[in-house]
Amino acid sequence: MSSGSGIGIHDLSLATTEFVLPHAALAAYNGTELGKYHVGIGQESMSVPAADEDIVTLGAAAAAPIVERHGSDRIRTVVFATESSIDQAKSAGVYVHSLLGLPSAARVVELKQACYGATAGLQFALGLVARDPSQQVLVIASDVSKYELDSPGEATQGAAAVAMLVSADPALVRIDGPSGLFTADVMDFWRPNYRDAALVDGQESISAYLQAVEGCWKDYSGQGGRGLEEFAAFCYHQPFTKMAFKAHRHLLNYGGLDTDQDVIAAAIGQSTAYNRVIGNSYTASVYLGLAALLDQAQDLSGQAIGFLSYGSGSVAEFFAGEVVPGYKERLRTAENLAAIERRTELDYAGYRQLHERSFPTDGGDYPTPVQNGGQFRFAGLRGHKRIYERR
Ligand code: CAA
Repeated sequence: MSSGSGIGIHDLSLATTEFVLPHAALAAYNGTELGKYHVGIGQESMSVPAADEDIVTLGAAAAAPIVERHGSDRIRTVVFATESSIDQAKSAGVYVHSLLGLPSAARVVELKQACYGATAGLQFALGLVARDPSQQVLVIASDVSKYELDSPGEATQGAAAVAMLVSADPALVRIDGPSGLFTADVMDFWRPNYRDAALVDGQESISAYLQAVEGCWKDYSGQGGRGLEEFAAFCYHQPFTKMAFKAHRHLLNYGGLDTDQDVIAAAIGQSTAYNRVIGNSYTASVYLGLAALLDQAQDLSGQAIGFLSYGSGSVAEFFAGEVVPGYKERLRTAENLAAIERRTELDYAGYRQLHERSFPTDGGDYPTPVQNGGQFRFAGLRGHKRIYERR
């Protein structure tokens, strides 16, 4: 089945944090065998935000190169997807809109459904562009994944943002029409408004994810989607990279196909390269997988990629895209690698100190220390307002 819409991802850019904690440092601190992290969950390190970084600075850093390359005249909608929201009322996207100097004739909104939000944003964007193909939509997925210190979830933290420009006649990936959908009310991972670290039932979350894979694939097939063997590669939501392997094995088993380790590695291995060193970036993670895949695969022109987006709670979607010939010239491989490699390594004590930081809630003046060397800074709180700066 060929792609129909002629709408999709025109540009893709990522950003991650100032700091990184190697899993070796975590293992040395808590006595875990390093093999459990490197092999058991498939993680080598995790991005840690500086005191003056948050979802807004990460989102702005991811989106700035897109605005620089394409201008902002055609961007009439900004969708900001996140689990780690910074305000109950105001969209984080409005701060990004301001930092990037986007046109005032725009709608800006924040979307939430755990790690699934960006896929909802992408699908809504496709609809808006279908209605008026002269418009473009900027979809930003930005998250800081935070679990309690000394909890099993601690090893699966991370932080990153991905920005995607959705347009007609896209340069990277055309998104197909059919989508497979699945929603089930489960308490596998959640975060009440009074907490900044997520609550999670780890084993329940893994089985809920696998159940959702099956559910949305079943619906995708019912909607007239492609056959499993038509895909050159798959991008899964990756809370930790081993989860993508579990999910793909589950899907192949369900489809009655070969689940040989090499077959699985060939289909998803390249999509795990960035997540393996960045960690969980919640709603950005599927699209970090796409960036890694496009950056590393030899040539995917004209080939189909399967996307599986899962957000605890839970909502999942399976959809497909076809890679546009000539896409390689529009990639940002060097910049993506530079964003990952420029991070400064923390020791465990430094990471713990950052993790434990919180702001008083009395409306006082609380500047943040200058730690991040990027273009955008979260300068602190003043009168209950978040202050951002562009360098
Ligand atoms: N060498 C190699 N492998 C080892 C090992 C060693 N020395 N020691 C253990 N392992 C393996 C285990 O066998 C296990 O592998 P399998 O899963 O293939 O059986 C793996 O390492 C993990 O071991 P445990 O299950 O004992 O680990 P844990 O109890 O510490 O929990 C976790 C792992 C559930 C992922 C936990 O880190 C967690 O709760 N993370 C947060 C929740 C999460 O990420 N859930 C994923 C699905 S939900 C989702 O996708 C939404 C989201 O983003 C949160």
